Amino acid sequence: MKIINVGILGLGTIGSGVVKVLQGHQALLDRRVGARLRIRRIAEVGTPRIEVDPKLLTRDAREVIDDPQIDIVVELIGGTTVAKTLCLEAVNKGKHLVTANKALLAEQGLEIYQAAATKRVDLGFEASVCGAIPIIRSVREGLVANQVRSIMGIVNGTTNYILTKMTESGQAFATVLAEAQAKGYAEADPTLDVGGFDAAHKLQILGSLAYGSYIRYSDIHIEGIQKVEAVDIEFARELGCRIKLLAIAKEEQGELEVRVHPTMIPDSHLLASVGGVYNAVHIRGDSAGSLMFSGRGAGQMPTASSVVADIVEIAHNIIFHRPSRASLLPTTLMADEGIRIRPIERIRGRYYLRIMAVDKPGVLSKVSGVLGEYNISIASMIQKGRAEQAAVPIVMLTHEANEGDVQKALKRINHLEVVAQDVVLFRMEGIED
Ligand code: HSE
Repeated sequence: MKIINVGILGLGTIGSGVVKVLQGHQALLDRRVGARLRIRRIAEVGTPRIEVDPKLLTRDAREVIDDPQIDIVVELIGGTTVAKTLCLEAVNKGKHLVTANKALLAEQGLEIYQAAATKRVDLGFEASVCGAIPIIRSVREGLVANQVRSIMGIVNGTTNYILTKMTESGQAFATVLAEAQAKGYAEADPTLDVGGFDAAHKLQILGSLAYGSYIRYSDIHIEGIQKVEAVDIEFARELGCRIKLLAIAKEEQGELEVRVHPTMIPDSHLLASVGGVYNAVHIRGDSAGSLMFSGRGAGQMPTASSVVADIVEIAHNIIFHRPSRASLLPTTLMADEGIRIRPIERIRGRYYLRIMAVDKPGVLSKVSGVLGEYNISIASMIQKGRAEQAAVPIVMLTHEANEGDVQKALKRINHLEVVAQDVVLFRMEGIED
């Protein structure tokens, strides 16, 4: 039986999971691959999280990359500095590469995709987006015949857990975050997750694949969930909606919208039922129609499942002498392909606005007057409570409007004397006008 040698960089949580799968399912995988998949070397500078044959271990990553016997290098170090250098070195030495490193691909992946294409090696990155869900494979291969109309995803488990908990318990963001940190569901520094940046990394990777060229990470509009208040979740419930952190890519008239922000969606939307730490991606293709993929988006074994799937696919390609699939990688910039990124001020949609206004005659007409000046039409409204001379929430849902107009109107409304604090805005998706 032919031997396919695998070298692993990083034996942390995911690396240990990969070793567990490769060793635990050795016979099964060998049968499925039609070759013997063998871990030949593992580089780790810290303490390994799993017991492995000490002869496999090295502290020097270059002993993996420089080993002529190694066919596939698996980068599980993370970060964008050392990992980038090692990935490029491995590819330039003609190794096939598997990585779970979403930050690296999203922020500096163009260089890696181009190097893989030049060297005609395979690059597997299924584990970089949504853990166990085979979404990269589905977009790259299963939906290759489609013009993708839109991608909407819950691609961050931490924020989905926090929003789900807030919805179920009515508790404030800070309370739920602290509890999630205590239980180990959220990082000590939660910025990457709650700020929307992790979701934006995944959107960059998925969007670039779906739309065929590389999206600049800096072109993605990113807002986190820190501003979501219990009161808005409660209003959303009354309106038959939920608030989810969505990663959205949509192509319209030759322009692409790429944005991550808390979004109000109706309870009837497929994504609304995805709770807790689960991830899900909803895609509309011109031929395929709507599809939804869901599953575990993080964790040792779900992520290892996708890493090993890439290793197996590449091993197949090696033994059947299939050429690299690098032609499917986004090796050019979106701008160079003539696709423009639509700035957030030019998107159109429906909006939820919560205005904290003094409860006295004439206030509503002042607010709606400003909205009218900017061509924003109100579809429905809720006012709750009665508090002489104090601020009460007025919630307005708009018909479809231009975001630039909405932002300009809100600037004016925020300055009205009767308005007690800046208007809270949530974009709405999946609700017919
Ligand atoms: N921190 C991520 C999440 C998991 O909460 O979904 C890794 O991508």
